[in-house]
Amino acid sequence: MSYQVLARKWRPGDFSQVAGQEHVLKTLTNALDKQRLHHAYLFTGTRGTGKTTLARILAKCFNCEQGVSPTPCNVCGACTEINEGRHLDLFEIDAASRTKVEDTRELLENVQFAPARARFKVYLIDEVHMLSTHSFNALLKTLEEPPEHVKFLFATTDPQKLPVTILSRCLQFHLRNLSPKTIVKYLEPVLEKERIDCESAALWQIASAAAGSMRDALTLLDQAISYCQGSIRAEAVVEMLGIPPRQQVFALLRAMAAGGLGDVLEASEKLAGQIPDYAQILDSLLSTLHRLAIAQAHPEAVDNHAGDRQEIVKLAGEFNAEDLQLFYQIGNRGREELFLPGDARAAFEMLLLRMLVFSPMPMAAPEEIKSRKTESKNDIKNDNKNNSESESSSSLENESASGADASPPPDAEPNAATNQPAAGGNPLVATFEQDPNVQTLMRNFDGRVIPESVGAIGGMGGDAGDSRGSQ
Ligand SMILES: Nc1ncnc2c1ncn2[C@@H]1O[C@H](COP(=O)(O)OP(=O)(O)OP(=O)(O)O)[C@@H](O)[C@H]1O
Ligand SMILES: [Mg+2]
Ligand SMILES: [Zn+2]
Repeated sequence: MSYQVLARKWRPGDFSQVAGQEHVLKTLTNALDKQRLHHAYLFTGTRGTGKTTLARILAKCFNCEQGVSPTPCNVCGACTEINEGRHLDLFEIDAASRTKVEDTRELLENVQFAPARARFKVYLIDEVHMLSTHSFNALLKTLEEPPEHVKFLFATTDPQKLPVTILSRCLQFHLRNLSPKTIVKYLEPVLEKERIDCESAALWQIASAAAGSMRDALTLLDQAISYCQGSIRAEAVVEMLGIPPRQQVFALLRAMAAGGLGDVLEASEKLAGQIPDYAQILDSLLSTLHRLAIAQAHPEAVDNHAGDRQEIVKLAGEFNAEDLQLFYQIGNRGREELFLPGDARAAFEMLLLRMLVFSPMPMAAPEEIKSRKTESKNDIKNDNKNNSESESSSSLENESASGADASPPPDAEPNAATNQPAAGGNPLVATFEQDPNVQTLMRNFDGRVIPESVGAIGGMGGDAGDSRGSQ
């Protein structure tokens, strides 16, 4: 027998097998139990979250020979035929390839005829947003008052493109993206039944990479099975997905915590040597920054799916809370710069430099880094504690309120491990200052770059820059 891809093989046959989407299942089950059957249903949501799957199950609920119920038998003629895609009264139409009004008219001409065998004639129209305006108009009347024996099931990834006149005639169900946890829970028994050995960390990597789509998760699992040939290991999955190795991301963050530009650039270069995709590297950096921030706020809440919680909690102690917030914001807002024409490496390095230059924690001169690395983490923790206790707003806000320099003002509260003035003669800072954006800013701000003006560089929070510029 030919190989069937996992996503097709494991398509849920009834509501109990569907992962997540409880809000939809509850409504549908109640309605079917009470025999309150609407004539038009619309399923929306991102790719691979269960729209077509739910529509097909619903078609079985309507037409199962055992009667209308939320639990189709899956063995009768009607259920089997629907499962095999050959039921005479289930019309699956791909709207993307039948957009014209003539196609819709043809469909509507047939609507009035009674079903061949089943209780209902079910029209399942996929990607319904692709229909032309004329097609929608032709559909309106029938959709409002269809014959008793007709049910319409629509599915789309793009409900915004549907006319409100169509929306208001349908029961609408918005399917949610599935969380990595839900995906892992669904995939574990699949792996067991398929007799595939898979490390838990590998499965979590796949579930995260699927970005909410169960189809993507199953496809990635197929890919991992071929890639690994045998048991699926986390390392191999990381390689397959092109995710930067965690340890190297940690090394980059450690260098950032120490504030040494040379080390930061070296760690970044090492990462790029392995994964030449800067967007992936930035994504890993951002997700780790997020975990570090969580680790500072509530260490127990850090997930340990990759077995690295301890390491995360330890690394979190090397940052102050403002830095984590600032780095995350700069990285997130600057993401699009990686896709602008030009050198992605330069864009990525500029982002890293921007994080450090605008950090309330001053950059270290090379000789400074060693001593900083060995400095007691308690100091940093105490600093964090003091900051959160004594400052209702961040030091960044305080600085910006007083219009202070990004380099630590002489009278600023020391909130970092050292209070070394910024960038004394560091050649990398000189490079930063040569960036045309920075030069414009320095001109605009009278030679002083203030922390919030970072927004102006990344095209973010333009207000701050504007208001200052007009002063
Ligand atoms: N909620 C879910 N629970 C279990 N499996 C799911 C779920 N959603 C999707 N799948 C799996 O993904 C496959 C594709 O799902 P489905 O065809 O329902 O997605 P869709 O939402 O219609 O996607 P598209 O927008 O791309 O058409 C199914 O065969 C099934 O294996
Ligand atoms: Mg579909
Ligand atoms: Zn049945």
